[in-house]
Amino acid sequence: MAIVTTKEMFQKAYEGGYAIGAFNVNNMEIVQGITEAAIEQRAPLILQVSKGARAYAKHVYLMKLIEAAIADAEQTAGFDLPICVHLDHGDSFELCKSCIDGGFSSVMIDASGKPFEENIAITRQVVEYAHDHGVVVEAELGTLAGIEDEVNVSAEDSSYTRPEDVQEFVERTGCDSLAIAIGTSHGAYKFKPGTKPQLRFDILEEVQRRLPGFPIVLHGSSSVPQEFVQMINENGGNMPGAIGVPEDQLRQAASMAVCKINIDSDLRLAMTATIRKYFHDHPDHFDPRQYLKPARAAIKDMVAHKIVDVLGCNGKA
Ligand code: G3H
Ligand code: 13P
Ligand code: ZN
Repeated sequence: MAIVTTKEMFQKAYEGGYAIGAFNVNNMEIVQGITEAAIEQRAPLILQVSKGARAYAKHVYLMKLIEAAIADAEQTAGFDLPICVHLDHGDSFELCKSCIDGGFSSVMIDASGKPFEENIAITRQVVEYAHDHGVVVEAELGTLAGIEDEVNVSAEDSSYTRPEDVQEFVERTGCDSLAIAIGTSHGAYKFKPGTKPQLRFDILEEVQRRLPGFPIVLHGSSSVPQEFVQMINENGGNMPGAIGVPEDQLRQAASMAVCKINIDSDLRLAMTATIRKYFHDHPDHFDPRQYLKPARAAIKDMVAHKIVDVLGCNGKA
């Protein structure tokens, strides 16, 4: 199967009350771990690439790795794995154009930090180019706290999406999905220790009421599993107070209008914790395959868990 857009994935997810996982990829082991889990679970999949990932690995390497994963699914499992390849947090028309021209089936234009009219204008420009090339567009309204592609958005700057803006924004831009801010944030430090993590479901409900049937996206949706934080801290790391979004709240969002849930930090935690422990247990080893293999397996387990226990998209491909 060729690389697909999210059109059909999102329609089925919306109607079925589940969500698709959008996992960030940066290297071969991450691509393999994620896609092997999706193949086993027969789950539709979004692999997303940030500006930083493109700078790290190069566009062509990431595209070829994803194409290899599709070919491997066909050859080894006889399965047409539907994969959408998506630009995460595109910050300019030029970056979006480059990814569209380079074979991505979906792009995000994130102009959420700009004034409303400017956000509409740049999003509209990307939508026109993307739709002319059969590519879909995710846009964003509202600002997440945390770190977005090396830009630090402080908690004080965070502002929830205003439901009264969403209809006008979607109508005037023609975007295909909308990321909203309801209390999630990027990175591993999402909530203050001692406070109760709580997403603003009242905002999500109101957005859903105003945009019936329209796919909503949640960024910053890692749950920061405490067993991995502990494994990191016990093996030379130092991550005090790392807290994520409770999984039951993500499940609830997936049963509503949320069709795409973005997860990156949890993959990083799984990989880092596994490698830290490996080095601690085997201080004399220096073959990268020895520590990257269990790290890849940890990513696969993490993604399988998300697909089955959080997103509910297993068996939906
Ligand atoms: O939203 C940010 C993603 O986790 C990507 O992070 O810019 O470090 O690749 P990155
Ligand atoms: P996390 O940092 O919570 O994994 O969020 C990832 C994300 O939103 C990528 O766009
Ligand atoms: Zn994000």
